[in-house]
Amino acid sequence: AAEKQRADLNDILAAAGRFFEDQLAGPNGREARDYLDRRGLSAETVRRFGLGFSGPGRGALASDFARAGIEMNRLVEAGLMKQTEDGRMVDFFFNRVMFPIRDARGRPISFGGRIMGDGQPKYLNGPETAVFSKRRTLYGLDLARADLANTRRQGERQSLLVVEGYMDVIALSQAGFPAVAPLGTAITPEQVEAIWQYHDRPVFCFDGDAAGRRAGRKAIDLALPLLTPEHGIGIAILPQGEDPDSIVTKRGRQGMADALGQDDLTVAIYDLLKDEIQPKSPDDWARFQTELDAAANAITQKAISSTYWGVLRDRWKNEWYAVRQGNR
Ligand code: UTP
Ligand code: MN
Ligand code: MN
Ligand code: MN
Ligand code: MN
Repeated sequence: AAEKQRADLNDILAAAGRFFEDQLAGPNGREARDYLDRRGLSAETVRRFGLGFSGPGRGALASDFARAGIEMNRLVEAGLMKQTEDGRMVDFFFNRVMFPIRDARGRPISFGGRIMGDGQPKYLNGPETAVFSKRRTLYGLDLARADLANTRRQGERQSLLVVEGYMDVIALSQAGFPAVAPLGTAITPEQVEAIWQYHDRPVFCFDGDAAGRRAGRKAIDLALPLLTPEHGIGIAILPQGEDPDSIVTKRGRQGMADALGQDDLTVAIYDLLKDEIQPKSPDDWARFQTELDAAANAITQKAISSTYWGVLRDRWKNEWYAVRQGNR
């Protein structure tokens, strides 16, 4: 019965996805089409990601489904309608560019919606439902996984990028970089384990801003105890103010490849901690060393832990001696 209910919800979500695509293609969709065009997405990319538009009013989807004889309760269960404080039933999404969220097998499980102008929230994600669990889902995994399998068949090895948002995944994919993103929350252990099913060394590439650095720190803290010789991670830190979408859109494939040039985890651990502590006094430098040791010690796997410990210590020593010599 639970299986049946999930299948029914997938069907409803698929139908909603088609409705949003039709809205995007139709007379109501002009502003949204212009928006996607300005963001540099090709018609092929829009089709592949199933992007749509939720329609201008708060009842467009509901009336379409009512015509098809589908009960409102089903739409609430699917996360497509909700009850307002005064008890009215309304569409969950309206006047937003729609991003279907699919599971690893490509089944529709929810949507994200972006506002076109300014306004809050910038992205609205569907609520948790019987088929949608935010902490387990990675946006773009169905397509990234297919792209990785394709290049592997051609005997090539490609990176899998883990980025912050919808537009990063889509712009990267359009430029030939398979990518996935968590959905507006910090990455979870479930997501890291899921990613490792498809790539043995995913590269995290968060925004070059304070939030991105915080996300980087969190991803490192989470991944360190899970590292094994078979399953690692890389981290690339982007220039201030950039995100993967802005880089690939402004500087193209090569610009992105350059930004990914340095993705060593020990370098990221060192740089992020140093940036956080900004060591000046000897006490600061001592605390910095303690934090580096703690990072290495958080690695469960012995050989990796001692290797990282040595690499981090060596660099710390070199920099600290240089500071004492007055070279910096
Ligand atoms: P960003 O603000 O960096 O979004 O948040 P972005 O993808 O670069 O957005 P664009 O380029 O302006 O369109 C990163 C991610 O955090 C989530 C979304 O998944 C977003 O892609 N987020 C952000 C939300 O869930 N809600 C928000 O209000 C903002
Ligand atoms: Mn594996
Ligand atoms: Mn950001
Ligand atoms: Mn961003
Ligand atoms: Mn962006």
